[in-house]
Amino acid sequence: MPERRYRIVVCRGPDCGDRRDSASVHAALTRAVAEAGLGAACELDWQSCFGRCSQGPNVLVREVVAAPIRRGLADLPPRLGGGPRAATALYNRVSPVHAAEIVASHIGRGAVVRHLIEPLVVAPPAAPPPRPAEPTAPEVREDVKVP
Ligand code: FES
Repeated sequence: MPERRYRIVVCRGPDCGDRRDSASVHAALTRAVAEAGLGAACELDWQSCFGRCSQGPNVLVREVVAAPIRRGLADLPPRLGGGPRAATALYNRVSPVHAAEIVASHIGRGAVVRHLIEPLVVAPPAAPPPRPAEPTAPEVREDVKVP
């Protein structure tokens, strides 16, 4: 059985980072990993944006299988030689108080913390622009005689 390893990726994009202080989430996750003694099982990283800005701060926890896959391929999808993704989740609206729970449950036991996952919000398609008015027939003036 290959060793279970995880990558924790915190968004630092403009919404998650600048407006919602994802740096404090990253710091709390770093502390929680150290306190749980799980530093060998995971690594923390940053991502510029997950495209779920309105639901941030967003944190992706992804399982990567380090062995026997060659180093550098573990992050690829399985069809390209990467490892299986047994427990991957994108957590939404994460705050520092969620860090210990994510680390203990997801990293410690491989169990996704479902209550921290929101459904994808898809905006309805924008209404099409109004159509230009149909050209009207030229006015026929009966007082003008055409030669
Ligand atoms: S800024 Fe975090 S998902 Fe876009």
